[in-house]
Amino acid sequence: MRDGQIKGLPYLITLTQSINLPFGGIKPKPPVKWAGGKGQLISQFEPLFPKQEFTLYIEPFLGGGAVFFHISPLEAILIDNNPELINFYIVVRDNLQALLADLEKHQNNKEYYYSMCALDPDKMDAVSRASRFLYLNKTGYNGLWRVNKKGKHNVPFGQYKNPRIVDKENLRQVSRVLQRAEIILGDFSKGLVMLSNSDTPFIRELYEGYDLKVVYARRAINCCAEKRGPVSELVVRNYI
Ligand SMILES: C[S@@+](CC[C@H](N)C(=O)[O-])C[C@H]1O[C@@H](n2cnc3c(N)ncnc32)[C@H](O)[C@@H]1O
Repeated sequence: MRDGQIKGLPYLITLTQSINLPFGGIKPKPPVKWAGGKGQLISQFEPLFPKQEFTLYIEPFLGGGAVFFHISPLEAILIDNNPELINFYIVVRDNLQALLADLEKHQNNKEYYYSMCALDPDKMDAVSRASRFLYLNKTGYNGLWRVNKKGKHNVPFGQYKNPRIVDKENLRQVSRVLQRAEIILGDFSKGLVMLSNSDTPFIRELYEGYDLKVVYARRAINCCAEKRGPVSELVVRNYI
């Protein structure tokens, strides 16, 4: 068997950590300012990232995506429960030109800022909604994103002299990396988990509070006949 062939059939394995990035391979930066972003931790994470090559990257708490953009994986599943953030990423991925054009209209003054805050994003088309989101993120105080109980954006005007609302080059790189991502609006805590593990006191203690059911596996392959009987296995679920 030669490398790259199984039983004479060629196969292609695209196991590589990064895609070929445009603009001299510069990695995109997080396109939004986001509380709790991991950007400043990347250099400490670096030695802890897997050395093995991998294709799929799954990020259940995307936020500003500092880790995701740093890794720039070949394939990704990206999840966040913030609808504005997720709409923004989807528009950057699928409709960047329209977004860049729309972003031109924004003004950096208090009156305009509060008129943008007052808009109801649910009544906007996806592009204007993403454009509003980025504008408010870059011009609001400290890059905070905060909504009140009624879902109204309530961050004060940041009074920045010259905020960089549009970084076209970075948004193009962000868009390119996002082409390979499935972007999902979802609540990670509502994910249904089912796993099966050996039925031991340790596992039972580890999953205390979860639904535990015993199932039986037959361990037929054993040199001792008496050890070929059923073996109990624990199914752990976070739902019933
Ligand atoms: C600190 S940010 C994540 C930082 C990011 N991973 C990075 O690399 O910079 C946390 C994100 O988790 C999201 N989030 C919080 N609870 C969540 C949940 N239950 N399901 C999905 N996303 C959630 C928030 O909307 C926020 O965008």
